[in-house]
Amino acid sequence: MIRTVATKPYDDQKPGTSGLRKKVPEFQQANYVENFVQSIFDALQGFEGKTLILGGDGRYYNREVAQKVIAIAAANGFGKVMVGQGGILSTPAASNVIRKYKAFGGIILSASHNPGGPHEDFGIKYNAENGGPAPEKLTDAIFACTKAIKEYKIADIAPIDLDTIGTVKAGGMTVEVIDSVADYAELMEALFDFDALRKLFKSGFRMRFDAMHAVTGPYAKEILEHRLGAAAGTCRNFKPLPDFGGHHPDPNLVHAKHLYDEMMGPDAPDFGAASDGDGDRNLIIGKGIFVTPSDSVAMLAANARLAPGYKDGLKGIARSMPTSGAADRVAEKLGIGIYETPTGWKFFGNLLDAGMATICGEESAGTGSNHVREKDGLWAVLLWLSILAARGESALQIVTEHWATYGRNYYSRHDYEGVDSDRANALVDELRAKLASLPGTTVRGLKIVNADDFSYHDPVDGSISEKQGIRILFEGNSRVVLRLSGTGTSGATLRVYIERYEADKAKHGIDTQVALADLIAAADDIAGIKRHTGRNKPSVIT
Ligand code: G6P
Ligand code: ZN
Repeated sequence: MIRTVATKPYDDQKPGTSGLRKKVPEFQQANYVENFVQSIFDALQGFEGKTLILGGDGRYYNREVAQKVIAIAAANGFGKVMVGQGGILSTPAASNVIRKYKAFGGIILSASHNPGGPHEDFGIKYNAENGGPAPEKLTDAIFACTKAIKEYKIADIAPIDLDTIGTVKAGGMTVEVIDSVADYAELMEALFDFDALRKLFKSGFRMRFDAMHAVTGPYAKEILEHRLGAAAGTCRNFKPLPDFGGHHPDPNLVHAKHLYDEMMGPDAPDFGAASDGDGDRNLIIGKGIFVTPSDSVAMLAANARLAPGYKDGLKGIARSMPTSGAADRVAEKLGIGIYETPTGWKFFGNLLDAGMATICGEESAGTGSNHVREKDGLWAVLLWLSILAARGESALQIVTEHWATYGRNYYSRHDYEGVDSDRANALVDELRAKLASLPGTTVRGLKIVNADDFSYHDPVDGSISEKQGIRILFEGNSRVVLRLSGTGTSGATLRVYIERYEADKAKHGIDTQVALADLIAAADDIAGIKRHTGRNKPSVIT
């Protein structure tokens, strides 16, 4: 029943910020999926007879790849695969299931917020037994295996019926199809006061949740509408589609502009939110106010004690380096640790496992806590709702008060997408070469006090990750950070992160792009963004 199939390596299977991401036709090349999945198993040890969790965001090719993973897992000696019904598990739900059932690890099929369809993106990533993304030393080992692979093992089994919950035997292994939502909903009930949230909705509180035809639809419908009693119709675009309805399932102000417009309009509901392809990102928009992800993590951390799951307070807060320093001020006031990590949720894993951090967040619309080892879109929504319910205030009031207490970190990210890779690398190389000469110089009237290439020393395992983003620090704590994205599937994406701290309450109402205009101009002067990219403006501003 088990076949060993000869294969040849592909040289481009290096996992990025979050697993291997490519266009579907690349994954459809002969043995491409098989090679990568076998390489994951080749890089692991000791899984014989153990359980593997499997699920994905339902995008095009999800089902086919799920069947392959099951057959390869059986041939390699796993004892059991637990797979979400229909091949579906949101990323945070998968993380929870790995932890809850003490599985050996899990495979998540997703390209997150990237578009789906026959010519769009697909992805495969491995999460370890703590429920979190594979650390760099494992992804490096997987990559090494992909370059040396000679054969893979696969069991000759009939396709599993992924739609029927229950347990079957296949290829000497057990396959259990599980409810995709139940375990996750139970976890949320344990963290949040569902009675208080039911009262909130009963009192007439109106909300809009946009699932963007991606994986959170069934989760949000069950939790918000069925369990919490939010009005029918609260969840929009809740039916997961293989091509996300032809849209980018990216909950930002470009791809969820309709939600933004509604929240700023005359008949806005009290609260609006959205999540991405695989359910780990969040977009939070109160009536009349967009909450930046960097602000959101700070505000959630400052108020977390209002939810039962966090009533004893936080151990610490962690944020990725490009994320604004708003959370730092909260940590300082709470007297708890603050950790600055490279971009990528995997870097939070050690801090969470070691009990050093409780809440983590990234500027890229990710917030989460120690309840799982992934960021979690719906969790962020439920924590926001809990805070609104407990404080009896609007999101706008909470944000305004937060700024008045801590000061405001004006923050924006400018993305230059699809830039020629050589040109993007030239920009970075040139900038690196002049970093040492920058401190002490003045650009557009702004004095540079420091400039470096961020290198992270993991306080838990001592590992070092270098070249994680170039930071230029100006007098008064203003910053510009530049780095190349690690999640794209074509060309290079240059990300420019701009931040200015403003303590004066009277100056908290300025338009963000206006407040940051001199820093934006300085970034171009210093890095030659227009000259190198040939673009005169960013493709996306968030
Ligand atoms: C994924 C990761 C995040 C990361 C984001 C942006 O969503 O899970 O941790 O912040 O990608 O990464 P990028 O390399 O594209 O800036
Ligand atoms: Zn995602």
